[in-house]
Amino acid sequence: MAFDDSLVKDVLKHADIVKVVSAYLPVIRKGKDYLAKCPFHDDTNPSMHISPELQIFKCFVCGTSGNAIGFVSKYEHLSFREALKKVAEICDYHDPRLSDIREAKVVDPKRVPLIKCLHDLTVYYQYALNSPEGKAGLDYFNERHLDADLRSKFMLGYAFKDGKATCRFLEEKGNSLKTIEDTGVANNINGVYADRNQGRVIFPIFDTNGEVVGFSARRIAPGPEAKYVNSPETYLFHKSNILYNYHNAKEKARIAGYIYVLEGFMDVFALYRIGIESCVATMGTALTAEHIRLLRALNVEIRLCLDGDLPGQKATMGIANDLAKAGLNVRIVDNQNSTKDPDEILNSDGAMALNAYLNKLVSRVDFILNYYMNTNPLQTTEQKTQLINEFIPVLLAIRSQLELDTYINKLANITGFAPDAIRNILKTAREKPAETNFKQVINEYHPEKKILRRLEFAERELLYQMLSNPQAVAFYEQNIGGFYDETYRIIANFLIEYAHEHEDFVPVDLISSLETCDLPEKDLLINQISTLYLERNHPDKCDESLLVNLQEVINQEKEKIFENDTLEQSLEGKDPKEKARILSDYNRRRLRKKNI
Ligand code: UTP
Ligand code: MN
Repeated sequence: MAFDDSLVKDVLKHADIVKVVSAYLPVIRKGKDYLAKCPFHDDTNPSMHISPELQIFKCFVCGTSGNAIGFVSKYEHLSFREALKKVAEICDYHDPRLSDIREAKVVDPKRVPLIKCLHDLTVYYQYALNSPEGKAGLDYFNERHLDADLRSKFMLGYAFKDGKATCRFLEEKGNSLKTIEDTGVANNINGVYADRNQGRVIFPIFDTNGEVVGFSARRIAPGPEAKYVNSPETYLFHKSNILYNYHNAKEKARIAGYIYVLEGFMDVFALYRIGIESCVATMGTALTAEHIRLLRALNVEIRLCLDGDLPGQKATMGIANDLAKAGLNVRIVDNQNSTKDPDEILNSDGAMALNAYLNKLVSRVDFILNYYMNTNPLQTTEQKTQLINEFIPVLLAIRSQLELDTYINKLANITGFAPDAIRNILKTAREKPAETNFKQVINEYHPEKKILRRLEFAERELLYQMLSNPQAVAFYEQNIGGFYDETYRIIANFLIEYAHEHEDFVPVDLISSLETCDLPEKDLLINQISTLYLERNHPDKCDESLLVNLQEVINQEKEKIFENDTLEQSLEGKDPKEKARILSDYNRRRLRKKNI
């Protein structure tokens, strides 16, 4: 068993979440709960609620939530085990079982041969770089100012032109042909394997722990072939999830308090050359949810530094919005007058210039404002009104009064409108948000939306009861053929399993169980469950009649969804698996009706 459940329970029983959070942050009391400024996003008001009664915390702005162990693990970037020890320490709880806790490395048998093969190849590429044939690669690196230090730190190499010999070497090192193929480095031409990277310089790509999971190979001479050849998607290598240099930067960022997010690994090397090691690069792709997850875990300021051309600026705004929405603290390198990437700035204008460039940081709102002004004419009153209108949603999202005043004054300066006139427009927008009207209109014309609201309400109520009451879980198992809402359904399934192993439902233990489970969406689930626990508007008493009532509503509403005309609408936009599930549920019901 991976975990001593009773030890976790004992630690939590002796722990006090208020004491634990107070060890890191100032907290203030408010009624039954305590409040703190949330450390997991750029919080201006205390938005994090800490409930001594339930022993859980939740930030109502960024959604981060959990119990005392979850808090420490997120705050200090520790594993669950390490955080468990820390919580015991803070709360002065001593237990001999705690000293037995050591990080157990999980060994993935599928990973091991792939990692070994990639390692052998990395060493071989490094060796090739120092061979006579590799001189061309060495010259290339020198030309690009990648000195011996950088080359060895990032394990740069060269791939011999004889790609078949490279594969033979890997075989001689004990790697099977299947493994060689699975690493994605070889092309199979009529049963003969050859290195796909032959004749190129090699940049190994590392995972978050610093192990080589793939390669990017650059052509040395200008030519018609692709500039970079990347490993294909493999079991280990997922290009869109890579943040190059994350394995080094995760330590550096904590000390620096920020991290630069760049577009390519050549830019990472440029920053290293001027002594900035807290930086990562995407592999030229969009920012994915996985990137955001990795960046969020660092809990530092994100400094976004993308190319300054027009598509680059548009991408910057999109990414900055995504990051801000995810609750990350982001500033942007003001690239609007530069068409060079950091590597080019360093080589053409020198270290001082690159340093100055990287330190020209603007807020997201300023960046958007500058962009708007650079790309739109601002002469007529209509054009100026248009600017204000475009900015209303941006302004509405600002939480600090001081910041808001600053931007109102800026807009006033730019347009020549009085600040109070802008405030009035903002006030109207706040009182009668156009978006709400829009949503209301949609609701009126889509009957299935109304059904969903009543259904969601009943499902939420039942789920709330299930969270504190094993009888409600049993009721669900016997009488409800699954929640319509996917997240609720996953939580319900989790609770069914949990109920098999636990007699009573203590919120804090339940959340521990989720923290240590391997469901990919566990953060979302913890967030949902904490929100439910902290909702104070549910009936306290859960009796049979309440459950039966909810069951009726759920069944009625589901029935309506499955009526032919709304079925199609409810399938719209769902992924194929989800569609198949709804359809099979629908067919089961039809059959049952026929049989009655
Ligand atoms: P860039 O085109 O900005 O490359 O692509 P760069 O970093 O300036 O490289 P040099 O200076 O020309 O050598 C940014 C990133 O996009 C990916 C690479 O990961 C690169 O680091 N890319 C680019 C590819 O995967 N394939 C390509 O053909 C080009
Ligand atoms: Mn470049």
